[in-house]
Amino acid sequence: MEPIIQIDKLNLYYETYHALKNVKLDIPEKAVTAFIGPSGCGKSTLLRTLNRMNDMIQGTRIEGSIQIGGTEIYGDDVHVEALRKKIGMVFQQANPFPKSIYDNIAYGPRLHGIRNKAELDVIVEQSLKQAVLWDEVKDYLKRSALSLSGGQQQRLCIARALAVQPDILLMDEATSALDPISTLKIEELVQELKSNYTIVMVTHNMHQAARVSGQTVFFLNGEVVESANTEVLFSTPSDARTEDYISGRFG
Ligand SMILES: Nc1ncnc2c1ncn2[C@@H]1O[C@H](COP(=O)(O)OP(=O)(O)O)[C@@H](O)[C@H]1O
Ligand SMILES: [Mg+2]
Repeated sequence: MEPIIQIDKLNLYYETYHALKNVKLDIPEKAVTAFIGPSGCGKSTLLRTLNRMNDMIQGTRIEGSIQIGGTEIYGDDVHVEALRKKIGMVFQQANPFPKSIYDNIAYGPRLHGIRNKAELDVIVEQSLKQAVLWDEVKDYLKRSALSLSGGQQQRLCIARALAVQPDILLMDEATSALDPISTLKIEELVQELKSNYTIVMVTHNMHQAARVSGQTVFFLNGEVVESANTEVLFSTPSDARTEDYISGRFG
């Protein structure tokens, strides 16, 4: 199967700082890909290139190619809003809007022109069910999202991302602020979602990568050192630097 994301000869500079170096990487569709590596190695930077979030950072320069579904996403005629609709993102800190649970989920669909209450109700219910949050909140949809626990807020953010029907979900250390039980819930959720979505997750937790991903990519100093099937990468890494990292010799 053709990879849904194809990155080639990608270089990214913050002003003069060379943050991504000649990255070549294929990301398969409807699977979980994990980015691992020590802090500052460029994981978040690469993740942000995929929905053009780096566009918002002044002084960023990018060279090379990223194709998603065969489209060059840095091409001149790309509609960035439409691209971002197809690529949802969830961050380390859950960031619900200071609005009701319902309005958080309905926000994106409304922005994209859906006004019909019955239609929005269906989207809200489906999205919350997909994020395995519905049973916990179905009687409190009018309550502020900020009244939820941290783990619930993060699942709400996932539901909000799913509400606009993306193809790809980017998760940047989405569980690192959560307790172990909430983390496990999100890992289980990722397992559920991978049959329908392409998921790319940055994690500083190698065990998490091993538990949930099918492909793991190891980064160091802005370079992809190794990208492989997760079991292969953790059992028989082909690069000595990968081996050093996964055996805890640095990072
Ligand atoms: N907005 C920015 N401006 C300048 N440098 C940045 C910016 N964001 C990240 N960097 C630098 O780029 C490198 C990679 O950062 P990042 O992608 O956040 O790494 P990681 O997610 O792997 O910890 C780091 O050296 C970081 O300091
Ligand atoms: Mg990061």
